[in-house]
Amino acid sequence: MAELLPFDMFDLSRGADEARRYAKLDNIYHRGQAQAWNGKELLDELWTRHGGSGIAPGQRDAASRVLGQIMWGELAAWKIAAQLADELEDLEARMAATSQAHDEARHFYVMHDYLERAVGTFPRSVARASEGLLGAALHANTIEKKLLGMQLQIESMALTIFHALRESKVCPVLTDLLRYYERDEARHVGLGMQLLPQRMRRFSVLERVEFTAYSFKVAAWSIGTLKQSEDDLRTLGIEPRRMAELGKSKQMLVFNELFSIVPDQRSAASARVGNVLDMFAELLWPQAADDPAVTARLRRALVTLRDGYGMVETQLDPDEPARMPEA
Ligand SMILES: [Fe+2]
Ligand SMILES: [Fe+2]
Repeated sequence: MAELLPFDMFDLSRGADEARRYAKLDNIYHRGQAQAWNGKELLDELWTRHGGSGIAPGQRDAASRVLGQIMWGELAAWKIAAQLADELEDLEARMAATSQAHDEARHFYVMHDYLERAVGTFPRSVARASEGLLGAALHANTIEKKLLGMQLQIESMALTIFHALRESKVCPVLTDLLRYYERDEARHVGLGMQLLPQRMRRFSVLERVEFTAYSFKVAAWSIGTLKQSEDDLRTLGIEPRRMAELGKSKQMLVFNELFSIVPDQRSAASARVGNVLDMFAELLWPQAADDPAVTARLRRALVTLRDGYGMVETQLDPDEPARMPEA
């Protein structure tokens, strides 16, 4: 019979490498506590400071759909963080996941309160692609897939939407509020980054293939989510092309760091499939200045298939300077 509780949890010896990683996880919890903000007070304060929301009546439906997806995504993140807090055995990992669950609860209710105030309502469902994306994370059948899908891929996508919404200046309350979200989400990416490499090292070949296939499924749903929201994003002052570039760049910052820890897990095949996804993004969202002729678009798509997507300087934590990811 399984033991009631992991009573030996303080007796396990750790190598220096592992000890460093666990110190970082411990730090995620304590920083989460130090940086925790009061959602009700902050929203009231920003609302008063800016004299209400900047969302124009013609933007309300688009804001409701885009931010509604974020709101329900926060609930999914909350559930997954709670699952991780239960499933992860190591003390520091469990603490970091618990702190994330606390953050996501705040993200969820604050986005709900913001929508009620700025738009007057919120959607009771999400579009098909968002459902596929969130379902892939919620129903992932291993901890590794959950860490990859939610902590690394969906979190960096959320960081991208927050960054783009902040940049669009569609609403000054949102611009200020989302900085707080981004700071929290950057810590959550950190949780995945500390836990995943050591688990990836233990993969069999079959597990690695399944894991890679899973990562492409999540990436394909992400592109689908962006495609389904493109009109709404434009209404809110965001160019989908900018989102795709920012998203790719933030994702690459994450993968640069991940593969610097586990270089042997990087595969040429996965890089090529990544370029296939980039090619779809290139076909969907060409640059405004590019030649719109079909042959020119196809040529650019083929170049993207060979070289991958163009990247831009960015960061995960809004307090850090922007930098260029490595291709
Ligand atoms: Fe969140
Ligand atoms: Fe998060």
